Formats: sequence, C-alpha cells, structure tokens
Amino acid sequence: MGLQRTLSIVKPDGVRKGNIGEVIRRFETSGIRVVAMRMLHLTKKEAEGFYAVHRERPFFGSLTEFMSSGPIVVMVLEGENVIARNRSLMGATDPKKADRGTIRADLADNVEQNIVHGSDAPETAETEISYFFNKLDIIS
Ligand code: CMP
Repeated sequence: MGLQRTLSIVKPDGVRKGNIGEVIRRFETSGIRVVAMRMLHLTKKEAEGFYAVHRERPFFGSLTEFMSSGPIVVMVLEGENVIARNRSLMGATDPKKADRGTIRADLADNVEQNIVHGSDAPETAETEISYFFNKLDIIS
C-alpha cells in the first residue's frame, strides 16, 4: 500500500454537535497524521462541485443543501494505507449499518448527516484534496 494521503471532512452536523475534536482524536490515536486543515462554509454551488459524481442521485439536492448548511472542517490525512484505515474508522455510510465503535455508529444520526466524509480511492483522494488545498498548504 505505502504512504498515502486522503481527504477527510467533518461535516456541518459534526461541527454543530461539537465533534471536531473527537474525530481528530480518533485519527491521531490510530497513528494517522493531520498534514493540512481548514474550516470553511461551502456555498451550495461549491458543495455541488465537490459531490458532482453524485449529481444524478435522488439525494443530491438535499445532500448539497446539508453540506452548505454550516461550517465544515477539511483535512488532509497521511499515513500507511490511510484511505482504507480512515474508511474503517468512519464505518459504513449508513450509521445503522456501521460497526460498533466507528465514528458514524457512535456519532451520526442518519445516512445523509453522517458526520464525516473520506475519500474512497487514491484517484478520488487526489481530486478531493486539490478541491480544497494547494500543494503548499500540505505539510510534508
Ligand atoms: P459521503 O461519504 O460524503 O459520500 C456521499 C454522501 O451522500 C454520503 O457520505 C452521505 O452523506 C450521502 N448519502 C449517501 N447515501 C445517501 C442516501 N441514501 N440518502 C441520503 N444521503 C445519502
């Protein structure tokens, strides 16, 4: 696998519920490094751009409404095999199906408002990281 980077987002529900620190604690406890971080409030258009691959899905409107409903925290995570490790820390998209002890099982309310986002593959990680960060923003 080797050293990888991935994009993580604490979504508006996570920020509203005061879960920023809890999410980062779980990353750091499992040996994942935060190498870039920023808080921002997406416009609807910016949320639509980020989730463009889902534009045909029935939940696209409500997802992008939600993602632009308040501030988010975007992070670049780095570590060995970090894409898969982050996904296993997050748990399944639907918190009802997520394993116990995962971020979504412990903190999320429903399949849409599911606290965190994480890239699902190396190519998407690269695209998603560059949606929010310049090369010089990332600590190496
Ligand atoms: P995420 O991992 O950010 O990728 C796409 C997002 O769409 C997902 O998390 C959820 O927030 C949302 N999502 C996925 N499936 C559904 C669904 N069935 N209904 C509503 N929102 C969904």
